[in-house]
Amino acid sequence: MDILVIGGAGYIGSHVARYCADRGIHVDVLDNLSTGTRDNLFPDYGFFEEDILNYQALLRVMKRGYSAVVHLAAAKAAGESMLKPEKYSVQNLTGTINILNAACEAGIPRIVFSSSAAIYGEPKYLPIDEEHPKEPENFYGFTKLEIERLLGWYDRLKGLKYAALRYFNAAGYDPEGRVCGLERNPANLLPVIMEVAVGLRPQIDVFGTDYPTPDGSGVRDYIHVTDLADAHYRALLALVDGKDSFSVNLGSERGLSVLEMIDAARRITGKPIPARITGRRPGDPATLIASSTRAKSLLGWEARYSDPETLIATSWHAYSKKYRHAQ
Ligand code: WQD
Repeated sequence: MDILVIGGAGYIGSHVARYCADRGIHVDVLDNLSTGTRDNLFPDYGFFEEDILNYQALLRVMKRGYSAVVHLAAAKAAGESMLKPEKYSVQNLTGTINILNAACEAGIPRIVFSSSAAIYGEPKYLPIDEEHPKEPENFYGFTKLEIERLLGWYDRLKGLKYAALRYFNAAGYDPEGRVCGLERNPANLLPVIMEVAVGLRPQIDVFGTDYPTPDGSGVRDYIHVTDLADAHYRALLALVDGKDSFSVNLGSERGLSVLEMIDAARRITGKPIPARITGRRPGDPATLIASSTRAKSLLGWEARYSDPETLIATSWHAYSKKYRHAQ
C-alpha cells in the first residue's frame, strides 16, 4: 500500500507516518513545513515540500498514484481561530477542498481525515458519542465540521471513501523516542507544562479552578499520539478492505484535570513546575470525555498508551532530550 501523508512533518502526522511505515506501508509526506519540522522526516519516506494551497503542485504529487491520502494539515488553535477566521477558512477549508479535488482528479479513492472533538462544542451529555449534537463553539471546530460535511458529498458524488477521525486531546510522544520534533509555540496543556519543566517558561497559568469538576480545574480526555496513529493505520486497512465511509471518536475514555496533570508532571519530571491560577479561558467547557465504543467495534482499536504516566513520561523524554542543558 502506498499512502500520501499530508502534514506528515507535523506533531500528529509524523507519528502516523512512522507508525504506518513501520508496518510495511510505503509513505510519502507532503508538508509546507510551516509548523512541521524536518526532524520528523525519515529516509524511508518520499518528501514533497509543497503547500496544499498550490493546487497544481498538489495534483502533480497525487498523480504519482496512492492507495489513500491521510490529511492532517490544518491550523488547529481554537483560540486563534476566533481572532483570525480568515486564516482558518483558507488553510482548513480551501486547503482541504484542494485536497479533495486533486484526489478525485488523480484517481485516489480514499482519504483518512484528521477531525476533532471540537465539532461537538459544549457537551450535552458525557461521555460524548458520535451521535452527540454538533454545535462547535469555535471557528476551528466549525471548519472541521464543514469538512466532514464535504466528505459526505464527495463520497456520494465522486465515490471518495473516507474515515473521519475525531481526536480528543492529543498528547505524548513516540515511546521509542524516534519521533521527537517538538511543536513551536504550543498552546496545549501538556507541551506548555513541558516548556515550564525545561525552563522555557517561568510558570503555567491554570485557566480557572471554579469549574463543576472534582478539583475545580478543566477535565479532558487525553489520547496518546501513538494510539491515534494506530487508529489511522486501522482506518486505512478498513477502507482498503472495502468498508464504507465512517466517522469515529478517538479518546481514552478517561478524564484528567489540569491540576492532576500538573501534579503528575511534577512527580515524573522531578521539576517544580510553578503554576498560577488565573481566570477561565473563554469557550472552554468544564469536561470533555469521549466514548470510543464505535472505534473499538468498527476498527478493533484500543487506547494502549494513554495513561497519564505514559503521556507525561514520553513527552518528558522528548523535551528533556532536546533541552538537556536546561535541566
Ligand atoms: C486543555 C485544558 C484548558 C493550557 C484544544 C482544541 C481542540 C483540540 C485539542 C485539535 C483546558 C487547560 C491549557 C494552559 C490551562 N485541538 N489549560 N493552561 O482546549 O481542550 O482543546 O486542543 O484538535 O480542538 O480546542 O486543549 O490543551 O488547550 O486545554 O489551564 O496553559 O488545559 O483550560 O481545561 P483544549 P488545551
